[in-house]
Amino acid sequence: MGLGYVGLPTAAVLATRGRRVAGVDLRADVLDTINAGQVHIVEPELDALVRAAVASGSLRALPTPPAADAYLICVPTPFRDGHQPDLRHVEAATRALVPALRPGNLVVLESTVPPTTTRDLVARVLAEAGLVAGRDVFVAHAPERVLPGAVIREVVQNARVVGGVTEACTEAAGRFYEGFVEGEVHRTRAETAELVKLSENAYRDVNIAYANELANVCSRLELDVWEVVELANEHPRVNILRPGPGVGGHCIAVDPWFIVASAPEDTPLIAAARQVNDGRPQRVLDQLRTLAERFKRPRIACLGLSYKPNIDDIRESPALEVVRSIHESLPAELMVVEPHLRESPIDGLELFEAEAALREADVVVILVGHRQFRRLPRELFTRPSVIDTVGLLV
Ligand SMILES: NC(=O)c1ccc[n+]([C@@H]2O[C@H](COP(=O)([O-])OP(=O)(O)OC[C@H]3O[C@@H](n4cnc5c(N)ncnc54)[C@H](O)[C@@H]3O)[C@@H](O)[C@H]2O)c1
Repeated sequence: MGLGYVGLPTAAVLATRGRRVAGVDLRADVLDTINAGQVHIVEPELDALVRAAVASGSLRALPTPPAADAYLICVPTPFRDGHQPDLRHVEAATRALVPALRPGNLVVLESTVPPTTTRDLVARVLAEAGLVAGRDVFVAHAPERVLPGAVIREVVQNARVVGGVTEACTEAAGRFYEGFVEGEVHRTRAETAELVKLSENAYRDVNIAYANELANVCSRLELDVWEVVELANEHPRVNILRPGPGVGGHCIAVDPWFIVASAPEDTPLIAAARQVNDGRPQRVLDQLRTLAERFKRPRIACLGLSYKPNIDDIRESPALEVVRSIHESLPAELMVVEPHLRESPIDGLELFEAEAALREADVVVILVGHRQFRRLPRELFTRPSVIDTVGLLV
């Protein structure tokens, strides 16, 4: 259920490992693309896998779920106003399963969700339809940990945490994943599996927030944060992460809010970390504004738009947020450089080659540490004023 970044690679991997797979999605364009043996998302090796699976008849895409042995729910779980989890897609996908389910079927929620969702939403909806978890069907959570760019390998090789709403559910889900996962399959209860996934991403967020807070302090005290971090990390038990212009993507910037929503009184640290990271684009903009004031209409080169290095993904990207804000609020001529995109995603702005932009610029803001930027001749950065938010030149 859901043929996106998680569902489609999982479907294709299962289909090329001896299973017959029906991929279900609401979007007709997605179904048509996949049934034509093509893909609508960028992920290495996925296109060849889908082409082979569709050609052999082991993968087909459908608008509604057919009868099957196991159902995996891989639908989006964004947040809505007030950072509250939006579980409408999980509920809709679960309801859509009801007519297809037969006794003994396995239903696994792979989407990232707040603790108790598997029991209180998925198992509850099925129970209301007369299908009791552990008696009629098996219901479990198995969060996905894949890294975009390495999904095909990681779907198979990563260790998995599998948690059922009863012990029999845990066992049924554990056996299903052991059928194709090479990493260890850890068995636990549903709520633990839910919190494990969220804890992983909140851990990253809190640690990045610490580095970003130090960057804010250093900018106020006019100290070099890179030197501070490097020297502090000389301590044998200290390992401060690298600061940056914020935290993007659809996981680390979203999932910590699911823990906060579950226990607001107990999560001041996780909530503060989110705010520190969300506040970073504004801090970068403030720094830039101070520099830009020296010029009448500065030419500003912005290096990078994606949310992390060496990819084209701009979802929740802090780099994109910084460039948008400069475009909207500073009287400047902007030269945007993003070697992973063919067109600028911001109306009224064009993409430039890195070297040309650096030669023209009065001010340079480095927002993403792309490999291509690391290879640029250092002399290009000596003339303009530089704000290096990612430590590219360190
Ligand atoms: N992308 C990642 O790297 C990643 C990694 C770990 C966990 N996750 C989690 O996995 C889940 C899915 O993420 P994604 O990136 O694959 O999302 P996505 O947006 O790429 O894909 C979701 C798909 O589900 C479809 N869909 C929505 N409602 C549906 C329904 N009721 N029935 C059938 N299909 C439906 C959408 O049309 C879409 O094609 C989310 O909870 C996410 O947090 C994602």
